[in-house]
Amino acid sequence: MTLATTPASDVAHEAARRRTFAIISHPDAGKTTLTEKFLLYAGAVAEAGAVKARAGRRSATSDWMAMEQQRGISITSTALQFSYRDCVVNLLDTPGHRDFSEDTYRVLAAADAAVMVLDAAKGIEAQTLKLFEVCRARQLPVLTFINKYDRPGRDALELLDELEKQLDLRPTPVTWPVGIAGDFRGVIDRRTGEFVKFTRTARGATAAEEQRLDATRAAAEEGDAWTHAVEECELLDAVGGSVDVESFLAAETSPLFVGSALTNFGVRHLLDAIVDLAPAPTARVAASGETRAVDAAFSGFVFKIQANMDPAHRDHVAFVRVCSGHFERGMTVTRADTGKAFSTKYAASMFGSDRDTIDDAYPGDVIGLVNASDLRIGSSLYESEPVAFPPIATLAPELFARARAKDTGRYKQFQRGLAQMEQEGVVHVLRDPHGDPTPVLAAVGQMQFEVFAHRLEHEFGAAVELSPTPHTVARRTDAETAAQFPHIGGLLVLLQRDGTLLALFESQWLLQRLEGQHPDWVLDPILIDAAEPPQ
Ligand code: G4P
Repeated sequence: MTLATTPASDVAHEAARRRTFAIISHPDAGKTTLTEKFLLYAGAVAEAGAVKARAGRRSATSDWMAMEQQRGISITSTALQFSYRDCVVNLLDTPGHRDFSEDTYRVLAAADAAVMVLDAAKGIEAQTLKLFEVCRARQLPVLTFINKYDRPGRDALELLDELEKQLDLRPTPVTWPVGIAGDFRGVIDRRTGEFVKFTRTARGATAAEEQRLDATRAAAEEGDAWTHAVEECELLDAVGGSVDVESFLAAETSPLFVGSALTNFGVRHLLDAIVDLAPAPTARVAASGETRAVDAAFSGFVFKIQANMDPAHRDHVAFVRVCSGHFERGMTVTRADTGKAFSTKYAASMFGSDRDTIDDAYPGDVIGLVNASDLRIGSSLYESEPVAFPPIATLAPELFARARAKDTGRYKQFQRGLAQMEQEGVVHVLRDPHGDPTPVLAAVGQMQFEVFAHRLEHEFGAAVELSPTPHTVARRTDAETAAQFPHIGGLLVLLQRDGTLLALFESQWLLQRLEGQHPDWVLDPILIDAAEPPQ
């Protein structure tokens, strides 16, 4: 099929109006609610609640396939695309709760920015911290949204302090709350000094009414709450807490917004900031160190593989982030790791459980390639000019289990499933070349094991017995360090197929003690999914 080439200037224009980001948060901080409200403000849904996200989520069962079908947007979507102002916004899903898995980390490799949602009463929580570390490893610019300010919570200045101390990230508030958490009247827009007064709408189903008042009127209407907010803003001015685009893009500062997704307060400010501040896709650095300009020929990489999304058609969908060029369905691209041609006849965009065929995509967009069973996480695809993007970084796994075939007669099927799912990045498969040959599976979320076991049984016909090991934390290490490990209990060194050595520790305490005693040892929490060697 011959396709007309799209002028580079058109591609550059389309890229410039893309914003591709992910939300990082701890379960219950309000990610789903905020997602719904983004769609509401973008006009993609007429009324919040129209997106059937939460109802299904409540009935989470261990049946992963059924779960996938029930849950609607919050789980299956991978990428939601909507237009806002003159931009095309791609919101990438970061699965949480029981669905937390390495995919959650990998999604961040496909994003150009992140929105960190904090519950005003809780501040930084465990999962947010982990996801933030991955953002930091990728130098991803982060916008912060302090959510649930409509109900009692912590003091906003105290939350700022926590961000700075715990994350070493300097928050630069764009809006500042008038009224304390639980008595939230609106915000000062620090760019103009105006008071933006919010009015609740019934159940937050429609956009919140915003009234802009100048300082005099605000002082007259809000009294002490206004004076207090103004004083706090003066303090912020004095400590240099104002938005600075350069340091934001360098992931050193974080423009901060205060709001309430439930009542729609502050949602518009945040969405505007995504358009105004978050970066458009730019030239991407390849593994070689060269950069691929957005208007070069098509290129992209696989950041997620989902198998059996549709049980009726045992299919695999490889989600590809477009890095450069104009993607047109039907084009034949080349896989960087094998040099083989790949047809993109079956390309889809995902919205909820519906699958629409996608015909065009530009840098920043996500395409789902159906029946892409031999693509792997990190595989790069390109048209005409070769490029291979670097492997994807995730955090080291925290859950480990030995895997044995229940029925030794099904050993071959067991091995085939193991190899296939290792390739897809469902779990890490670790082996002890000198000790127990039973493979150890490693994951960051329990669901990775459940998916593994389910697929092994139903797709490959080999039931598996998983026995958890006592380890709770792992670090990437090297042979030199491993050779120095003391022969003490609670520590196990295993090998991944790509040659990565992982040290498994039974306790965080043991790891910290060894780190303290041997600061020169290589004990890296960041894991790189090594690219497959060319076949
Ligand atoms: P998540 O995706 O991050 O896990 O969080 P989600 O949006 O599902 O929100 C978790 C709970 O917090 C929900 O309540 C939701 O309504 C509530 N919530 C989200 N944003 C706000 C906010 O700005 N203010 C207040 N007060 N609550 C908020 P729920 O009772 O668990 O569910 P539901 O009955 O409301 O559906």
